[in-house]
Amino acid sequence: MPAFPALNAPSAALLSRLAALLGPAGLLTERSDVEPFCTDWRALYHGHAAAVLRPANTAELAEAVALCAREGVAMVPQGGNTSMVGGATPDASGRAIVICLSRMNRVRRIDPVDQTMEVEAGVTLKAAQDAARDAGLMLPLSISSEGSAQIGGVLATNAGGNNTVRYGNARELVLGLEAVLPDGQVFHGLRRLRKDNTGYALRQLFVGSEGTLGIISTAILQLQPQPRAVEAALCAVADAAAALALFAAFRAQDPALIQAFEYMSGAGMELVTTLVPGASLPLSEPAPAYVLVELATPRPNADLRAALEEVLGAALEDGTVSDAVIAESEGQRLALWKLREEHAEAQRRAGASVKNDVSVPVSHVPELIARASAACAALVPGIRPAPFGHIGDGNIHFNLVQPEGMDPAAFLAMDHRIMDTVADIVRDLDGSFSAEHGVGRLKPYMMPDWRGGAELATMRRIKAAIDPRGVMNPGAIFPPDDLPDSPAHPS
Ligand code: MLT
Ligand code: ZN
Repeated sequence: MPAFPALNAPSAALLSRLAALLGPAGLLTERSDVEPFCTDWRALYHGHAAAVLRPANTAELAEAVALCAREGVAMVPQGGNTSMVGGATPDASGRAIVICLSRMNRVRRIDPVDQTMEVEAGVTLKAAQDAARDAGLMLPLSISSEGSAQIGGVLATNAGGNNTVRYGNARELVLGLEAVLPDGQVFHGLRRLRKDNTGYALRQLFVGSEGTLGIISTAILQLQPQPRAVEAALCAVADAAAALALFAAFRAQDPALIQAFEYMSGAGMELVTTLVPGASLPLSEPAPAYVLVELATPRPNADLRAALEEVLGAALEDGTVSDAVIAESEGQRLALWKLREEHAEAQRRAGASVKNDVSVPVSHVPELIARASAACAALVPGIRPAPFGHIGDGNIHFNLVQPEGMDPAAFLAMDHRIMDTVADIVRDLDGSFSAEHGVGRLKPYMMPDWRGGAELATMRRIKAAIDPRGVMNPGAIFPPDDLPDSPAHPS
């Protein structure tokens, strides 16, 4: 286990050197300016920071990191601050510095022949998608927070999302990467090669490292052809088993057409339609569960509507689907997606919730949902399970909303018991305790149990080799006893 020396608060001399380096737009020290960077999206983590750095380019970022590292100051990289696991929130000590990438926001280049995009870390995922589309291509990564989430954070957490079923996770899209190491050196890996077997694929080490090994500054991403046709439908089903039967039917028809295959529980949908303005169910009556399926193809003249209707028609006939609506316009397609994408927001509005971003082999999803729902109801009577997510790749957000009328703090105080209850079932089903959100500051306590032995020991050795002082995002991924100054749970 690496024994990291205690981390320091930045000295006045360091802050004035950073001010000279970054200018007034690049350094925030006023408490009111710094505070917004110190609470996570879910408002579960409330830390403090000595300053926020906002470098404008890689050279500034590298120099700033070198200065902070020399003084042994903790650095917390932050993109759009959309982490679901407190991955980008400083601890309560007030000694850390947040490094925000939002000023590094240029799409530098799109190459139509290579079908690649070179993009800086602070570009929002939505802006990157739009730039690719304007160039007649597609960046095939879509997550609910894409309007705020930034490329650097998306890659540092190896985000998954709605299109993993077809294109893989963020990792699969990364051809090249530039990152600033914890001592300020720059790893220059901005290559746009499909084949590059030259030793260890270091770029992949940074993807999913959650900012603990350095700060991703720029990436080259693989794009896809722009689909010429897209069709989406919302289907009412009895349960997750029926959802999987429908998935099997679409796969049997043509797996290459499936762009998204999402599951929503009836309870989750009810929260969305009652708590989110402008969201309404386009079916005649509520169902126990729903599937949002999207087909897409870049092929010209493909009759995608006929393909969708063929599978849905058979599924309605054999009872797999009890009702369905097909989007007749782009507006209707977006309205269907709103019902899915507002799940996290609706759950936030419903009160305190405990999230379990878990994955199991696709075939085990029905058993996961049934067993975890029963176990959580036994643990907390009145708890409201609202599972939803990417059933096509086995990733379910087994989220639980507090019982009506319960004190939110009392509910959240049970978070580990609830998470462990779900995790026991996930383990039994050969799954993972974190599918796409990462470990952050929420789940390091699970690491020894789930990734212990040689696996965690190797991760610790990699961390110690690249970040021997432990200055990069302390508190994330590794259990707190590795990093004495960074409690896993903020005060
Ligand atoms: C989503 O797919 O919408 C999320 O990853 C959100 C969540 O777990 O709440
Ligand atoms: Zn998700």
